[in-house]
Amino acid sequence: MPRMKAAIFVEPGRIVLDEKPIPDVGPRDALMRITTTTICGTDIHILKGEYPVAKGLTIGHEPVGVIEKLGSAVEGYTEGQRVIAGAITPSGHSYACLCGCGSQDGPGTKHGFKATGGWKFGNIIDGCQAEYVLVPDAAANLSPVAEGLSDEEILMCPDIMSTGFAGAESGGVRIGDTVVVFALGPIGLCAVAGAKLMGATTIIGVDTVPERLAVAKKLGADIVVDFKKGDPVEQIMALTDGRGVDVAIEALGTQGTFESALRVLRPGGTLSSLGVYSSDLKIPLSAFSAGLGDNKIITSLCPGGKERMRRLMNVVASGRVDLKSLVTHRFKLDDIEAAYDLFGHQRDGVLKVAITP
Ligand SMILES: NC(=O)c1ccc[n+]([C@@H]2O[C@H](COP(=O)([O-])OP(=O)(O)OC[C@H]3O[C@@H](n4cnc5c(N)ncnc54)[C@H](O)[C@@H]3O)[C@@H](O)[C@H]2O)c1
Ligand SMILES: [Zn+2]
Repeated sequence: MPRMKAAIFVEPGRIVLDEKPIPDVGPRDALMRITTTTICGTDIHILKGEYPVAKGLTIGHEPVGVIEKLGSAVEGYTEGQRVIAGAITPSGHSYACLCGCGSQDGPGTKHGFKATGGWKFGNIIDGCQAEYVLVPDAAANLSPVAEGLSDEEILMCPDIMSTGFAGAESGGVRIGDTVVVFALGPIGLCAVAGAKLMGATTIIGVDTVPERLAVAKKLGADIVVDFKKGDPVEQIMALTDGRGVDVAIEALGTQGTFESALRVLRPGGTLSSLGVYSSDLKIPLSAFSAGLGDNKIITSLCPGGKERMRRLMNVVASGRVDLKSLVTHRFKLDDIEAAYDLFGHQRDGVLKVAITP
């Protein structure tokens, strides 16, 4: 049986490059040869054991590549075609999909969570930090890449851009809104870009890393707040003349940022949460206005599926947003352990790494 290299979760603290058989292709699947992939903040939660996955699983959920082999029932594609698939791979025909929530497609429960949803790659099936990945329900998930778009230009579409934009979309950002984004990692930076595309005219970015604050300004932040230079809630309330913000996007996954996002909302404002949390959240009465604040709290899992990917690649092709600059480092798949080390410790100004098998 032919084998391939893959980055495999061994135990908390250890993701190693090893070998596995190249998967067999079922009728509705496609085998994708990976040309470029990357590491997500969520993979670091997995590495640290904060988000549990099965031992032996291949990690990674951001595939850019070429169709190597199509399942017998998959029509409308050709082998050799350049494609991406979303981090989330909805089947298109499950209960969740037919309810209009494809991201929540999936077996339903995992580790007691109600919804691990349509996030399958590197979560419940082998992922794409490998030479090949098997794409389930290929007809719903393979999105052809238009000529002229490079791998790095579209590397953010499967997850980072889709998730970050969803923070603004789910938050219902309107023209003229004031929006704050807590944490300016790749996800928060894309939330800034998404809020701008949706018409926010005052965008406040919160972080402390100077390079990240600078990139946020390039992508659309009007004001940046350093959370280490004073209480960010006080700074944001002062910046908004005490009104608070229309939409607060949480892009880290901690009690502190969640609570701050709640505290800076205007009456009736929306907290749009993107972070992956590793422990129970507390909702303080004062931040929650005892339940009488007319606030909305909404969470989003990265929207996937081929139509979402087509639209995001269109945003890139149109030149509305340029996320190439998020790729700061490049590694061969053979050196993925070093890539994890650099990315996981956020050394050397890293934002995203491009990994090429
Ligand atoms: N909802 C989804 O579908 C989805 C998808 C992908 C990632 N995620 C999650 O999104 C989160 C962000 O991922 P990322 O890769 O962008 O993160 P990252 O780890 O690269 O960046 C986190 C940033 O937070 C900043 N920070 C730390 N403490 C802060 C504070 N108190 N206030 C403001 N900023 C602070 C750090 O300086 C850093 O720049 C993670 O929890 C990740 O798991 C969610
Ligand atoms: Zn991710």
